[in-house]
Amino acid sequence: MDYGVESVELTLPSIRTTNECQQVKIKQVQKSTNFRTAQIRLLSSHPEVYEPCDDSFALVDALLADRTNLLEHCPRICMEVGCGSGYIITSLALILGQEASGVHYIATDINPDAVRVTRETLEAHGIHAEVVNTDIASGLEMRLAGSVDVIVVNPPYVPTPEDEVGCDGITCAWAGGENGVSIINKILPVADNLLSERGWLYMVTLTANNPSQICLQMKERGFASRIVLQRSTEEENIHIIKFWRDADSKVETKEVGSAKKTLAGRVMDSLLSQLPHLSLRRSVTSNSSYHHGN
Ligand SMILES: C[S@@+](CC[C@H](N)C(=O)[O-])C[C@H]1O[C@@H](n2cnc3c(N)ncnc32)[C@H](O)[C@@H]1O
Repeated sequence: MDYGVESVELTLPSIRTTNECQQVKIKQVQKSTNFRTAQIRLLSSHPEVYEPCDDSFALVDALLADRTNLLEHCPRICMEVGCGSGYIITSLALILGQEASGVHYIATDINPDAVRVTRETLEAHGIHAEVVNTDIASGLEMRLAGSVDVIVVNPPYVPTPEDEVGCDGITCAWAGGENGVSIINKILPVADNLLSERGWLYMVTLTANNPSQICLQMKERGFASRIVLQRSTEEENIHIIKFWRDADSKVETKEVGSAKKTLAGRVMDSLLSQLPHLSLRRSVTSNSSYHHGN
């Protein structure tokens, strides 16, 4: 596997003699942060399968920015729910690379065409993963309960009429029902069940999904959260939220009891307080978005 480490030849003038200016070649191994993500040209596709877009790139940029933490985390099982073209699960495997050896990758999608396309994308990149055609993680929950260390999800999040949710083909890639959260609300308890004690969930949301409400729901399940990347495009305002188990979150929720409005307000305050940090992250991650053109 190539991690984007390049060998560069530098030509420098020598200061050994006054008459001659000897060319000294120094071969330098350049340390690079350009760890590979999935290559667009190697992605498989199908008219009924979601092509990677700004939301997919934002999630991969968030994973790239968190690479050091992910490696220290030593995940044993990494999973993507709703893998589409396979761009994200392939990128995650490439980002972690051989430094995280022995990781088992699993991807699911309700769309059988997406499952086939993801298998082809993985194969084109030389990555092995288990790809399952199922609704979220149905049929896998008994086997995987409490053992997944990283879950990544770019869910169908577009607000639509409820009857568009779960339609066949490409519609199910984006149709999210009321406030765009119908599938998200189904994924959250499944993620809680699957994640190990030290498990992390990275999820794409829009402002229209009311991210603070999503964080509140997870807080009630004992998860802390942080927006690790925010990106505004012409069409939408994308947030990547990272969730992790935090015993204090659950205690605090119990203490406030029915005062949910206050807690929701506090979650919102906490998210808003991250905004100066977010603009910094945004510029950093935007610079690292080299994979858009590859
Ligand atoms: C926004 S697309 C994201 C695709 C890909 N992960 C990406 O970021 O490019 C959402 C994906 O979720 C899948 N999906 C929708 N509902 C699902 C469900 N109930 N269970 C599993 N996958 C689902 C869709 O088929 C689609 O591939």
